[in-house]
Amino acid sequence: MSHADDQGGTRRDFLYYATGGTAAVAAGAAVWPLVNQMNPSADVKALSSIRVDISGVEVGSQITVKWRGKPVFIRRRTTDEIEQARAENNAADLIDAFARNDNREDLLSADDQNRAMDEAGEWLVMMGVCTHLGCVPLGDGAGEYGGWYCPCHGSHYDTSGRIRKGPAPENLLVPVAEFLDETTIKLG
Ligand code: FES
Repeated sequence: MSHADDQGGTRRDFLYYATGGTAAVAAGAAVWPLVNQMNPSADVKALSSIRVDISGVEVGSQITVKWRGKPVFIRRRTTDEIEQARAENNAADLIDAFARNDNREDLLSADDQNRAMDEAGEWLVMMGVCTHLGCVPLGDGAGEYGGWYCPCHGSHYDTSGRIRKGPAPENLLVPVAEFLDETTIKLG
């Protein structure tokens, strides 16, 4: 639970409506300055929690939303992506052995089942921040492992967001997230 959650009354939730991948990115970019203007005294903690409408996210696509000043990838994976991620749970070239999931206890293994939001593994939510030096990785099957690729220094992440090759030391972080209902994910 975050500090802002403890405060209860100071917490503010913001709703992002998305009808598709590009729409979500555009809406996020347009909405952000407005939010800041409307809340000139609000600090980052006031934005600690946001709700994301995922009803328009098709299988095999992802949206990027801005949360606490950073991009978050919300991907709805295909069956192939899920199977590939789970088949490689014990791959020899996994660089980081841990799940890096803020919703779960520390030191859980990097198995895909410990990183995905739902049991079936359809939804994967991760910070869009390379664990090397913080660039935003490219998605939609980029890189040698079909997941994400950070072009800054060549880090390759698989379909579970696990680092497989390159200088990044850790898997992409899974932030605190939960389903509020079938079409709404709450971050933070
Ligand atoms: S910041 Fe991503 S590889 Fe260096």
